[in-house]
Amino acid sequence: MTDLTGKVAVITGGASGIGASGVEVFVEAGAQVVAADLQDDKGAALVARFGADKVAYQHCDVTDMKALEALMQSAVDTFGGLDVLWNNAGSGGTSSSVEELDIEGYSFTMDLLLKSVFAGTHFAVPHMKARGAYVEHGGEWHTAPAPRFSRTPGTVRSSTDDGEQVVATWGSAS
Ligand SMILES: NC(=O)c1ccc[n+]([C@@H]2O[C@H](COP(=O)([O-])OP(=O)(O)OC[C@H]3O[C@@H](n4cnc5c(N)ncnc54)[C@H](O)[C@@H]3O)[C@@H](O)[C@H]2O)c1
Repeated sequence: MTDLTGKVAVITGGASGIGASGVEVFVEAGAQVVAADLQDDKGAALVARFGADKVAYQHCDVTDMKALEALMQSAVDTFGGLDVLWNNAGSGGTSSSVEELDIEGYSFTMDLLLKSVFAGTHFAVPHMKARGAYVEHGGEWHTAPAPRFSRTPGTVRSSTDDGEQVVATWGSAS
């Protein structure tokens, strides 16, 4: 893996599953990581395992815009900056047919799988620009399809591409 020494990453949904594996890989590559999740006990265990100089944990519901903004700021406050954002948090959303799905289920799924990716990137990019580099991932791993009613994965791919383009026009996207 690329040497990430000196880089600071935020991984949402970092307390378990793929995100927690990501925390491990990023730390092995030399990064400092802020893991964000709803599972505070597992987050605390990550900090105990890797050490507070390598991993910080922040409680954050990615559907909460103020919490997302505070999360990105916490990376700066804790480790001095932000270089990498992995919009990993998610679940399958509310899976139903168009006919059966209610508005609450639709809104929950869109907030979790789409709005959070836009907003996380929106709040992270200014900090990334301040560091001079940019990496963001909110791609196919993140975007659990909500079968039968949504095009969420494709929309997330588009928004992610747009984010990369926005920052690439400013500076390095390597
Ligand atoms: N595992 C798969 O086969 C698969 C397939 C397609 C997409 N995905 C997506 O990849 C991502 C990781 O998958 P996984 O298998 O590790 O899932 P997982 O359920 O094991 O882990 C997801 C993590 O996200 C956290 N999370 C859920 N909702 C959150 C919220 N609102 N705010 C903050 N954290 C929240 C959970 O607490 C958990 O730690 C998810 O977004 C998932 O939807 C997974």
